[in-house]
Amino acid sequence: MPFAHITGWGMYVPEPILTNDDISKLVDTNDQWIRERTGIRERHIARENEFPSTMGVEAAIKALQVANLAPTDLDLIICTSSSPEYIFPATACIIQDQIGATKAGAFDLQAACTGFIFATNMGAQAIRSGSVKNVLIVGTEVLSRFVNWKDRNTCILFGDGAGAFVLQASEEPGGVMSAVMHSDGSGADSLIIPAGGSHHPATEATLREGRHFMQMDGKEVFRFATRVMGRAVTEALEQVKMTTDDVQWIIPHQANYRIIETAAKHLKMPLDKFVINVERYGNTSTASIPIATVEALQASRIKPKDKIVFVGFGGGLTWGAMVVEWTGPLPVKKHVHPAQYRLFARLRSFVRRAIRFIEGFFSRKEL
Ligand code: UT7
Repeated sequence: MPFAHITGWGMYVPEPILTNDDISKLVDTNDQWIRERTGIRERHIARENEFPSTMGVEAAIKALQVANLAPTDLDLIICTSSSPEYIFPATACIIQDQIGATKAGAFDLQAACTGFIFATNMGAQAIRSGSVKNVLIVGTEVLSRFVNWKDRNTCILFGDGAGAFVLQASEEPGGVMSAVMHSDGSGADSLIIPAGGSHHPATEATLREGRHFMQMDGKEVFRFATRVMGRAVTEALEQVKMTTDDVQWIIPHQANYRIIETAAKHLKMPLDKFVINVERYGNTSTASIPIATVEALQASRIKPKDKIVFVGFGGGLTWGAMVVEWTGPLPVKKHVHPAQYRLFARLRSFVRRAIRFIEGFFSRKEL
């Protein structure tokens, strides 16, 4: 049975930064309150011409560069987002087209902020089953467009960004070792965008009442997060007969510094084993775990063979954890340039649209 290794990683955050002081000009809050209650100082906000797909593409190309893998070698793309481009089509399909992953099946997975753990586990399981070899996982968010900038309970927390992993099959032991996935839909109302789906389609009233924005019971989510994070880590470790002593790094979903601090206490682990960057990005939902991972790698904190636990929680409610033995890129002889495929992808996309148009024109004539 092949092992699923994380062989590539990439991140992208939009340039514009929104500080706590900037937010204090929009709602009744202040830098000190936000820092003390959340640990957040600033977050990045997408420009008007940036979307989950465009940011996801940037992160994906970087991940493919690290893995030295051509987009045409991908078998599967799973995109996970709490702020997808559309209800359908899947953001994953748009990314597939833009990077030129001509062979890959692509779909979106929705598990709110836990999405990156669920998606990575699904990608790893597809590799373990032997049905695919190369998988791209993308977590990408433009949550700033679903935040009510008049609601101080939520607008202080979220930021935009994208992160990606490449997973590859190898007979060498390592990579994704275990994972746990949990859900509790009885808490669905705790973190929700109530309107815009088929339950409450868009109407004048839903717009007027601001029901297309995110709504959150912050205290409830805080209590839930602190309850499940430590438990999920222990459960994933037990599956592979490991304890926290065997672990070099915990990379948690970056939602609130205090939540991570509480999880560390529950696990009786020092906080310096946790990768934390919530201060500079806020909560980027599905993108927060890969962004934190990329930064830890760039700072040379993570080494090959390190045992890492990813742990996340979010709307749904959902939560999960994953134990990984870090490997890095697989040895390859050829050298590929994934970014060069983008031009080819754009051309291919244009030609396919043109063919579709011409086919449509002639089939209308035939009818
Ligand atoms: O990916 C998952 C996403 N969600 C989360 O992770 C959210 C989890 N929850 C949290 O992080 C925290 O609950 C918050 C940061 C949202 C809120 O922190 P808290 O310590 O639970 O504050 P609170 O809601 O209990 O509010 C305390 C006080 C209240 O005033 P009173 O009633 O004590 O007078 C609030 O009205 O702080 C007030 N408050 C604020 N003050 C200044 C609430 N929000 C703000 C604000 N600025 N932004």
